[in-house]
Amino acid sequence: MSARRSPLPLVLGAFLLGLLVLAAVVWWQLRGVPAPTREVTATPALIARGEQLARAGNCMACHTARGGEPWSGGHVVKTPFGDLVSSNLTPDPDTGLGGWSAGEFWRALHHGQSRDGRLLYPAFPYTHTTLLQRDDVDALYAYLRTLAPVRREHEPHRLRFPYNTQAALALWRAMYFEPGEYQPDTSRSADWNQGAYLVRGVAHCAACHAERSTLGGSGDSAAFGGSLMPSGDWWAPSLRDPAEAGVQDWSLDDVVALLRTGRGGGASTLGPMAEVVLHGTQHLPEADLRAMAVFLKDLPVQPVKRPAFEGAEPAVLARGGRLYDNHCAQCHGDQGQGAQGIYPPLAGHRAVTQVSPVNTVQAILSGGFGPATAGHPRPFGMPPYRSLLNDEEIAAVASYVRQSWGNKAGAVSALDVARVR
Ligand code: HEC
Ligand code: HEC
Ligand code: HEC
Repeated sequence: MSARRSPLPLVLGAFLLGLLVLAAVVWWQLRGVPAPTREVTATPALIARGEQLARAGNCMACHTARGGEPWSGGHVVKTPFGDLVSSNLTPDPDTGLGGWSAGEFWRALHHGQSRDGRLLYPAFPYTHTTLLQRDDVDALYAYLRTLAPVRREHEPHRLRFPYNTQAALALWRAMYFEPGEYQPDTSRSADWNQGAYLVRGVAHCAACHAERSTLGGSGDSAAFGGSLMPSGDWWAPSLRDPAEAGVQDWSLDDVVALLRTGRGGGASTLGPMAEVVLHGTQHLPEADLRAMAVFLKDLPVQPVKRPAFEGAEPAVLARGGRLYDNHCAQCHGDQGQGAQGIYPPLAGHRAVTQVSPVNTVQAILSGGFGPATAGHPRPFGMPPYRSLLNDEEIAAVASYVRQSWGNKAGAVSALDVARVR
C-alpha cells in the first residue's frame, strides 16, 4: 500500500485558516476607531464655509425625503442589494445629530462609523468625504447645527441577506475603503489640488462616475471610468474619454459653464447630473469651479472599450426613421442637426453615441428639461414618450438616432428599454 496521505487535513486546515483570517478582518473593521475629542467654535465664516461644502456635497438632496422636511432624512437610495434610507441630519436631540459631538461627526465622515459605533453603508459617500480636512468637517458640523431641529425617526434599511449584516459591510470595507485625508500633490498647481480635493472629496463625483464592480463599487474616489448607476436607470459616462463625458479638449470656460448652468461645450446635463448642478455646483464660487475644471481637463485620457459595431436590422432602422420623422424631427431636425441654442443636435452628439444606450433611452422615456439654473433660467423641454411609445418603438427610434447621420453606436433592443423603464 502506498503511503500517500489523504489531502483532507490540508484542505480542512487551509479552510479553517481562511475562516480565521476572515474573522480577523471582520473583527478589525468592527472594532472601529474612537471618536476624537474636539472643540468647534462656530464663527459666521466657519458656518458659511460649511454651507458651501454642504452644497458641493449635495448633502441635502440625499438627506431629504420626497416631500419631506429638508435635511430630516428618509431619502431612499436604491441599490442592487436593497434600499438604503438616509439619516436625519438636523440637530434634533433624539432622532438627528443633536447629541453628536464634533468628534463623532468627524468620525462618521472620515471613517464611516455612526455615533453608536455601527459601520455605515457607503451609499453615504464617506469613501470620498474621508478626504476632507478636519477644518472643513468642522465647518459642515457647525453649519448643520444652525438648522432647525426636525423630529423624524430613522427608517430601517431594506437590504437583503447577507448585505444587511455588519460582517458583510466589514468585508466590503476591507476590500474597498481606506480612510485618509487628501494629500496634496506638490508637483501640481494649487488650482489642480483644490480641484482634486473638491472633485474626489466632498463633491464625490466618482460615486457615480467610477467603474463599478459586482460588489457595488470601487469606493475609489479617483476612478472615473464610467458605469451604470446602482439604480440601473442612468449611465454615468467616463470622465476620462472625450467621446463619453470627458472634457479634456474643452475650454476651461465651457467646463465652468457646464458646472454652473448645466450647459456648456455643446452638452446639456440630464437626470442625476442635472441634480448635481441644480443642488450643488451652480452654488459654488467661481474659483472652486475653475479649480474643478482644471482637474477634470487634466484627467488622463483612457478611451472606453467599445464592443464591435453591430448595425440594427434594416427593418428596425426603417421603422425608427418613421418614428423619428413623426415625433422628433420637428425639434431635433431632419438630419439630427438640432436648432442652435434651443434643441440639441443628435448627429455627432456624444450623449447619443455613448457606449451605453441607457441615457438615450432614458431621455426618450422621460423627456426632460435641463436644470433651471440662475445662469440658464428657462431651459427648453422635451416631452416624455413613456406612455406614447412601447419598448419596441423606443428601441427602434433609439437605434435609428444612434446609427444615422454618421453616428455609429450599438443598436438598442426592446429588452434594453424594458430594463430602463
Ligand atoms: C447619495 C446619497 C447621500 C449623500 C450625497 C450624502 N449622504 Fe449622508 N447618508 C446617506 C445614507 C443612505 C446614510 C445612512 C447610512 C447608514 O445608515 O449606514 C447617510 C448617513 C450619514 C451620516 C451618519 C448618520 C448616522 O446617524 O449615523 C452622516 C453624518 C451623513 N450622512 C452626513 C452627510 C454629509 C455631511 C453629506 C454631504 C457632504 C452627506 N451625508 C451626503 C446618503 C447620502
Ligand atoms: C448622482 C450621480 C452623479 C454624480 C454625483 C456626478 N455625476 Fe456627472 N453625470 C452623471 C450622469 C448620469 C451623467 C450622464 C447624463 C448627462 O449627460 O448629463 C453625467 C454626466 C456628466 C458630464 C457630461 C455632461 C455631458 O452631457 O456631456 C460631466 C462633465 C460630468 N458628469 C461631470 C461630473 C462632475 C465634475 C461631478 C462632480 C461635481 C459629477 N459629474 C457628479 C451622474 C453623476
Ligand atoms: C418639443 C421638442 C422636442 C421633441 C419633440 C423631442 N425632443 Fe429630444 N430634446 C429636446 C430638448 C429641448 C432636449 C434637451 C433637454 C435637456 O437639456 O434636458 C432634448 C434632448 C434629447 C436627448 C438628449 C441629448 C442630450 O443633450 O443629452 C435625446 C437623446 C433626445 N432628445 C432624443 C429625442 C428623440 C429620439 C425624440 C423623438 C422620440 C425627441 N428627442 C423629441 C427637445 C425635443
